[in-house]
Amino acid sequence: MTASVVDPQLPPEAGPPSPNVIELDALKKWFDIGRGLFRGSIPLKAVDGVTLAIARGETLAVVGESGSGKTTLGRTVIRLLEPTDGRLLYDGQDITHQSEKELMWLRRKAQMIPQDPYSSVNPAFPVYRILEEPLVIHKEGDRAQRGEAVMKALQSVKLNPPEFFANKYPHMLSGGQRQRVAIARALMLNPAFILADEPVSMLDASVRISILRLLRQIQHTFGISFLYITHDLATAKHFSDRIGIMYAGRLVEEGPVGGVLGEPLHPYTKALMSAIPDPDPANRLTVRQGLPGEPPSLISPPTGCHFHPRCPIAQAGLCDVQDPEMRELRPNHRVACHLAS
Ligand SMILES: Nc1ncnc2c1ncn2[C@@H]1O[C@H](COP(=O)(O)OP(=O)(O)O)[C@@H](O)[C@H]1O
Ligand SMILES: [Mg+2]
Repeated sequence: MTASVVDPQLPPEAGPPSPNVIELDALKKWFDIGRGLFRGSIPLKAVDGVTLAIARGETLAVVGESGSGKTTLGRTVIRLLEPTDGRLLYDGQDITHQSEKELMWLRRKAQMIPQDPYSSVNPAFPVYRILEEPLVIHKEGDRAQRGEAVMKALQSVKLNPPEFFANKYPHMLSGGQRQRVAIARALMLNPAFILADEPVSMLDASVRISILRLLRQIQHTFGISFLYITHDLATAKHFSDRIGIMYAGRLVEEGPVGGVLGEPLHPYTKALMSAIPDPDPANRLTVRQGLPGEPPSLISPPTGCHFHPRCPIAQAGLCDVQDPEMRELRPNHRVACHLAS
């Protein structure tokens, strides 16, 4: 089943299908924040060497504190930003430095669900036009086919009856309904990959779960891969297959949800877990320890492991000197910590 009138389109010169939709190899995105004539270039290392893969039909959650580089990572993955270094593969094809013209196919295959459903949809358009627009831009179908695709997409996001919602304007809809429209729009071109950057953080708590459930269902129905970016471990747990933990521009741990959250290997992951509020009042005192100190500056991050100044087990002469490599300590479960075992 597809929501779109369009058949899946392979990138030009696609080789044998790769098991991974997305692959990052030591990917970096640095911003030059040097100002003024004589200051030269000052790099802000928002993404500083991230290696990961997202398999077909899989959801990877990237979790980290605000400012850890999550949004920059997501925007680089869908090539809204050009990597500074490293490699970015889509379906096995190197797109690290492809031009906007070469990336036309990616603009269909990779979609984004925005954080803010209020500013992401054109308030002057009825829902029908908002959803039809991507098809018009990519010259897909005739008017009748596009209309059919719009109705199908509205049904996929449970805006029923679709005719009722098609004629509404965004201001007539609730936040949750608007986010469903944004999700439907992302489905119009039959994508293989969706970036969802904090897709529920601006919604009322009461509708968050239903939107995440919908995304999970869409992932299964259409076999779409998701990169789900969030600062909230609790939602990552329910919505993903794997979790990557990001700290100061780097991935510190990555693996299956059950492994990462059930038996975390990195001291930072352990600290994050202890900061999750526990619904059981009996446990509340012990789970809210939090983490002392502040995340480091990305302009002059600590030497060695970026986490060492806040780490309860850091060893002088090792953690403050040497960058930890990602090591696979359990099947498919990797950690960048000298001392994890
Ligand atoms: N266009 C930009 N120019 C300069 N710095 C940026 C730009 N975008 C993001 N940053 C910086 O990169 C760092 C990571 O930001 P971001 O990726 O938004 O993190 P997160 O999504 O985890 O909160 C922050 O220090 C932010 O100020
Ligand atoms: Mg962000």
